[in-house]
Amino acid sequence: MQILCIMLSDIAQIRLVSSHPEVYDPCDDSFALVDALLADRANLLEHHPSICLEIGCGSGYVITSLALLLGKEASGAHYMATDINPHAVGVTRETLEAHGCHAELVNTDIALGLEKRLARSVDVIVVNPPYVPTPEEEVGCFGITSSWAGGENGRSVIDKILPVADKLLSEKGWLYLLTLTANNPLEICLLMRKKGYASRIILQRSTEEESLHIIKFWRDLDTLLEVKESMVLNKTDNRTVTESLPFPSFSVWRNLSRNFN
Ligand SMILES: C[S@@+](CC[C@H](N)C(=O)[O-])C[C@H]1O[C@@H](n2cnc3c(N)ncnc32)[C@H](O)[C@@H]1O
Repeated sequence: MQILCIMLSDIAQIRLVSSHPEVYDPCDDSFALVDALLADRANLLEHHPSICLEIGCGSGYVITSLALLLGKEASGAHYMATDINPHAVGVTRETLEAHGCHAELVNTDIALGLEKRLARSVDVIVVNPPYVPTPEEEVGCFGITSSWAGGENGRSVIDKILPVADKLLSEKGWLYLLTLTANNPLEICLLMRKKGYASRIILQRSTEEESLHIIKFWRDLDTLLEVKESMVLNKTDNRTVTESLPFPSFSVWRNLSRNFN
């Protein structure tokens, strides 16, 4: 019982999470993301993050949970969260306050206006993006629709977030991204691989409706060297390139695809 109480106080409490009709309430995906952060808590504490950023904070359940689970042991950390929906920023502020936490909140598209200030300096980025495949016209709509509308294959917003995350992440930075099988997570890992990132599934959860993966990305020297080698090959032998780019070596490819099956 005591252990249960300690665990519960380590993350945001649903009864203290604020709400608004136009803001996404915490759901299975939000819980999966927080569970993944909890599962990786020991590593996060050792990571000593200076700046943690959530992109698309909705109700504030995730950023508040992150601040609580890192707690006093990461007392120097600065928390930030963005959302394209102005109501979400207000609701997140209330959720943080109800838990005695603080974060800098910005109503913006992904991290527009923050790129210069945060370039190469964010140690942890967490994202539960709008991932549901929808008609492209629904992407970026005002209000609650922006919570789920992901465009073709649910990838429109994800594909905009990835290059921004690459610019903001510090050398030791980690990205935790939630994806749906329909988003083609393997392809996302390969895209990030081309930018020099290794990846690992921290948590996989299947509900009746969807199969979710929380993937952690980090910059990896071996991955970067492999990509650079492929590029050199590209310059010296066009035939080899078609075979070696953009895909990683067969063993890596096999391991990655096995994870998503
Ligand atoms: C699936 S909801 C997740 C909300 C919250 N993080 C959670 O896990 O409960 C996605 C959130 O991303 C926000 N969003 C959608 N497009 C965005 C964009 N281009 N920039 C910033 N936030 C965005 C939505 O308004 C919504 O709050």
